[in-house]
Amino acid sequence: MTLTFTRHRRLRSSAALRALVHETEVTKDDLIMPVFVDATIDGTEPIPSMPGINRYGIGSLLTEIKTIVDLGIRAIIVFGIPDHKDDVGSDAWNDDGIVQRAIRRIKASYPNLVVIADDCMCEYTSTGHCGIVRDGEVLNDESLDYIVRIAVSQAKAGADIIAPSNAMDGYVAAIREGLDKAGFINVPIMSYSVKYASSFYGPFRDAADGAPQFGDRSGYQMDPANRLEALREAASDEREGADFLMVKPAMAFLDIVRDVRNASDLPLVAYNVSGEYAMVKAASANGWVDERRIVKETLTGIKRAGANLIITYFAKDVASRIDRGEW
Ligand code: PBG
Repeated sequence: MTLTFTRHRRLRSSAALRALVHETEVTKDDLIMPVFVDATIDGTEPIPSMPGINRYGIGSLLTEIKTIVDLGIRAIIVFGIPDHKDDVGSDAWNDDGIVQRAIRRIKASYPNLVVIADDCMCEYTSTGHCGIVRDGEVLNDESLDYIVRIAVSQAKAGADIIAPSNAMDGYVAAIREGLDKAGFINVPIMSYSVKYASSFYGPFRDAADGAPQFGDRSGYQMDPANRLEALREAASDEREGADFLMVKPAMAFLDIVRDVRNASDLPLVAYNVSGEYAMVKAASANGWVDERRIVKETLTGIKRAGANLIITYFAKDVASRIDRGEW
């Protein structure tokens, strides 16, 4: 009796054949490196839960930016840690706020680096929430006014892209109108469209000092159990004029990355968030996983799922491995 079956191994039988049928490759052009600028320090401060990632004072920032640019990374996303917080997060929309100063300085030295500004209030409000709070509630429409102010002030400072992560409804429409009125018709919006209320943001909240002081974010960020809602969020942001969509976190939400990819033609960003980074770092520090292989497999998986761009704390590592021929 002759067995009939498919010999998949034929295409795996040599390194050359494997290279010919290789489908997905992560390149430097796919990477966005997050950068934390801190108004409360001068030099550099390591973030304990994110080994290898630092907060930079305005004075030490350009050294880090030079490293990023020299590695051939094209884009960064900037987060600020202000030296004062208040009810309305005023440092977030202050033309002399930490992020605005950082962006001006970066663009003056590296005009071709794409600088993305995160538009949120949680690092700047005394409540640690992403909007204005009254009677224990995060107000949607009142918060939009501030979110627009932040976007315009970041654009004035030279931000190339505004990335709202505050999860208020209508922020894309409001920011688009605000940017256009202020003359920034060509500044794109990279919307954190599908942002889950996730425990994977833990290390970021230490890094950026933006943990909510009461309650959690489930009144405005999404329930990780929901898939159809992700499509509604992506669709409304697209209708409102978003230029990029985003899914965040990435690893536990790759089905959503694929769903959004299939539902929209916009460039899609996946955010490989702080907790995903910390887990890989912790396990590899213990010798439990091979960091280099895990990172490649993870980022390749995110791209294979349909992301065009990946925000990742591993961006510098990846770029330098590509340079060394070790990717
Ligand atoms: C601000 C913001 C957060 C992250 C990006 N922008 C934190 C949050 O929503 O609580 C998380 C990024 C990460 O974990 O790497 N809202």
